[in-house]
Amino acid sequence: MQEGKLSKPYLISAEDLTTDDVNLIFERGRFFESEYLLRSKFNDLENYTVALAFFEPSTRTRISFELAAERLGAKTFLFHSATSSLTKGESLLDTLNTLDAMDVQIFVVRHSAGGVPAFLQRNTSKIIINAGDGKHEHPTQALLDAYTIHKHFGYIKGLNVAIVGDILHSRVARSNIILLKKLGANVALSGPGTLLPRHFNCWNVQYLKNIDEAIEWANVIMLLRLQNERMDSGLVPSLAEFSKNYGLTLDRISRKPELVVLHPGPVNYGIELQYEVVGFPNVLIQTQVAHGVFIRMALLSLLTKTYEPK
Ligand code: CP
Repeated sequence: MQEGKLSKPYLISAEDLTTDDVNLIFERGRFFESEYLLRSKFNDLENYTVALAFFEPSTRTRISFELAAERLGAKTFLFHSATSSLTKGESLLDTLNTLDAMDVQIFVVRHSAGGVPAFLQRNTSKIIINAGDGKHEHPTQALLDAYTIHKHFGYIKGLNVAIVGDILHSRVARSNIILLKKLGANVALSGPGTLLPRHFNCWNVQYLKNIDEAIEWANVIMLLRLQNERMDSGLVPSLAEFSKNYGLTLDRISRKPELVVLHPGPVNYGIELQYEVVGFPNVLIQTQVAHGVFIRMALLSLLTKTYEPK
């Protein structure tokens, strides 16, 4: 890896990142976080155009990428699939080539189908960033989560991180397992058996049978919502049953107030998290959102230094 460059000019999976890449992204993220108070504009992406191609709803990821790109001086536009020529039968690949011909250099892609960002990356020399694809991965979420953990503790290696809830449908869980293990954390999963992938043993992580075991074991707990939009049928007996075994309540957090609590959002209050818990100082959900902008600025800036136009 050359100085100031990432090992790959795209980001599809947390597997694409080396520990050197992560350190570089964190260093650049810290720079933007500290400098942002002094100046709100940078020119790292001057002359770049960024397509925000969101084929699935998003608040945090889309807006933070848009703000990140604009703060770096890029032009951005939102690609709406519903009002595009995709509705007239144009293929995804032709859409990519059309935007490519208009000199769009960076594509931030969210799609309900796993594999779409990887497919686009194989068919273009432009920069593709996976902003969440189906149940597959959400690597920038894992980066901002790791940055939040690192900022809180000053290190990640050796920390116990429990990921609790709907693991089966969670791209956030997949990217976090890969990245946190790469950075030396001990990772455990906890959730109903019906919401764990069959192959979860391949990840070489521990299983904790409920949230009480997770709280006892963990330094950091990452809560995940039930992704009803990705479930074919009811995979939990009831929401009350899920909350009883995997929900973080005031009573539970009061027993270990030093526990760091993360949630990628959106939160379903009263199910995986009781609303009153948000007031605890180590519940870092809003901090994660704030870090999302700096980490995405860092990633965009470093990818443009890594990318060689053809
Ligand atoms: N964490 C996350 O991906 O949130 P959005 O769906 O709002 O982007």
